[in-house]
Amino acid sequence: MVSYKELGLVNSRELFKKAIDGKYAVPAFNFNNMEQMQAIIQACVETRSPVILQVSSGARKYANQTILRYMAQGACEYAKELGYSIPIVLHLDHGDTFELCKSCIDYGFSSVMIDGSSHSYEDNIALTSKVVEYAHAHDVTVEGELGVLAGIEDEVSHETHSYTRPEEVEDFVSKTGVDSLAISIGTSHGAYKFKPEQCTRDKDGRLVPPPLRFDILKEIEKRIPGFPIVLHGSSSVPQHYVDEINKYGGKLEAAVGIPEEQLRKAAESAVCKINIDSDGRLAMTAAIRKVFAEKPSEFDPRKYLGPARDELKKLYMHKVNNVLGSAGKA
Ligand code: G3H
Ligand code: 13P
Ligand code: ZN
Repeated sequence: MVSYKELGLVNSRELFKKAIDGKYAVPAFNFNNMEQMQAIIQACVETRSPVILQVSSGARKYANQTILRYMAQGACEYAKELGYSIPIVLHLDHGDTFELCKSCIDYGFSSVMIDGSSHSYEDNIALTSKVVEYAHAHDVTVEGELGVLAGIEDEVSHETHSYTRPEEVEDFVSKTGVDSLAISIGTSHGAYKFKPEQCTRDKDGRLVPPPLRFDILKEIEKRIPGFPIVLHGSSSVPQHYVDEINKYGGKLEAAVGIPEEQLRKAAESAVCKINIDSDGRLAMTAAIRKVFAEKPSEFDPRKYLGPARDELKKLYMHKVNNVLGSAGKA
């Protein structure tokens, strides 16, 4: 058992309070390897942004729980070495069982998500409350979820959204004691968030998805004023990465994300954590494919993972500066 405090991490409580008051969102970037972690820390130290290092259960299996704990400690030390000790949270993304959440807490996570959204409302409350009880005993913060996003959530796929029902949020939050709530207002996971037939086209022929349901968000805010809200599935799927991947031998079709202006607008509300994974995957893949296509004789991993890391850093700095508004808030 190790406490996150010994690793130099913080929980999300204070960060979310400041983010709501300051009308910005804290970035939650998924990672599972060293280059992603380095890029996240470099970008957030340079922009002076707080950050949530986010790990799915699949990523935890991939990276190994013990290695992750030292990586998180390394991330805190690395930030200091780069010249500024930003607040860093290590968060479990989409935890699906009490045992997984407990194990993450015991291995140094400072925040966990218990995603009971696929259960009945009552079972979601029971499961979330159990996690909250254990987490709070260790001063770890908990994110719950109400409503179901369309797309893929850790191997579980949903065809359509089931939007969060505002009339349930107050009851859910007070019965479970969660510290933040993930909601469903039209975002979804992955690079293929919308089918082309769900979109319209702008004057340049680009696909424009249906807008997020800001009316539902507003209604939720009215019922639980000042309570931290989380947006999952918030990658924007930059077209230039899709084009680059395809130019260098990839095959991605009609990938559509959430327009950045809409995320900016959400960040100014009670949305204080925005989850981004797919955009990082696209940036990394585009950079690696470019090296492979232009320098086919290259076989030193540093020669393609290095440019991928640089591209990731650029992407994260852009998000922090221009989309989430968290630059300068650390
Ligand atoms: O919400 C899903 C995240 O993008 C994590 O994806 O389970 O493939 O690591 P993953
Ligand atoms: P994206 O697939 O849109 O990056 O969403 C990531 C996410 O919500 C992780 O929980
Ligand atoms: Zn998610």
